[in-house]
Amino acid sequence: MLSLRLRYPIQTLDNQLLFPPETLLTEEALDAVTDSHGANSYQTCPFLSYGSVREDCLGFLSLRPYATVFRDKKRIGDLLSLSETVHLSIPILQSLDYFKQHDSYTYSHVLMVFALSTLLAKDLVPDYEECIRLAATGPTHDIGKICVPLDILKKRTPLTKTERGFLEHHAAAGYALLGYYYKNRRHLACTVALDHHERRDRSGYPRGNLLEDPLVEIIAVSDIYDALVMPRPYRSGAYDNRTALEEITEMAKQNKIRWDVVKALIAHNRKSDPPYKEITVSAEKRGVPPSYNFHGITAEAEDPRDRTG
Ligand SMILES: [Fe+2]
Ligand SMILES: [Fe+2]
Repeated sequence: MLSLRLRYPIQTLDNQLLFPPETLLTEEALDAVTDSHGANSYQTCPFLSYGSVREDCLGFLSLRPYATVFRDKKRIGDLLSLSETVHLSIPILQSLDYFKQHDSYTYSHVLMVFALSTLLAKDLVPDYEECIRLAATGPTHDIGKICVPLDILKKRTPLTKTERGFLEHHAAAGYALLGYYYKNRRHLACTVALDHHERRDRSGYPRGNLLEDPLVEIIAVSDIYDALVMPRPYRSGAYDNRTALEEITEMAKQNKIRWDVVKALIAHNRKSDPPYKEITVSAEKRGVPPSYNFHGITAEAEDPRDRTG
């Protein structure tokens, strides 16, 4: 049963306030807000045909390390043909415009999490319909970041405690926004938005719940991988691929994320592209992380927002 005290507001891109700060976000509260806007019916559009999504996606896939993972042209063809079936509603798609315009890190991130998770799902999820269901959640898993100030999303130095809380707010905000737009809080996209930062050892957020839904776990691993291998404002550069895979292997060893998803990711990074069940993961650590990285480091300095709550 969901029960989360919101410290920050949840609003749509057109500034409709769905939940003010201090609201207790429950399933009933979300249903009440959704029902009160029951007349709205949103037009949908194939995700890949929206704006420049298709060409942007192909552009990002041509960069390392995705160029290696997607080196097989058939693999890109499969991804595109499966993606044709993914339709999203216009207000959800407008979040992509927002990120493209204001936060290019998040824009490329959601497209690459979509591409990678769809590839991994083909190995790990036997049911094709389930793969399609999962493919529709990659582009929206971080939609809650529209409720996080851009100066926090793009900050180059350590976040204060308040800023970290604001950043973590994106999980609950994404759940509420997608529940509202889909008019169904049980939609897989809502679960993915809420739980993609949870971990198998309960060390994640927003609830410290057990991460155990195989579909959400595919997004969680894709999310971590992309955050490591692509540039981020808070560190000196991207992780090289080897170091990123070592970091992810370490997380699987600590039982934070699922081994078979990590193995599928590693298998696609190997030249021979072996079946993931047959690979042996090296325990050797040779990677060198970026020289500075403020991820997970909290600033000691007082934040004026701490005083206002
Ligand atoms: Fe996220
Ligand atoms: Fe993400």
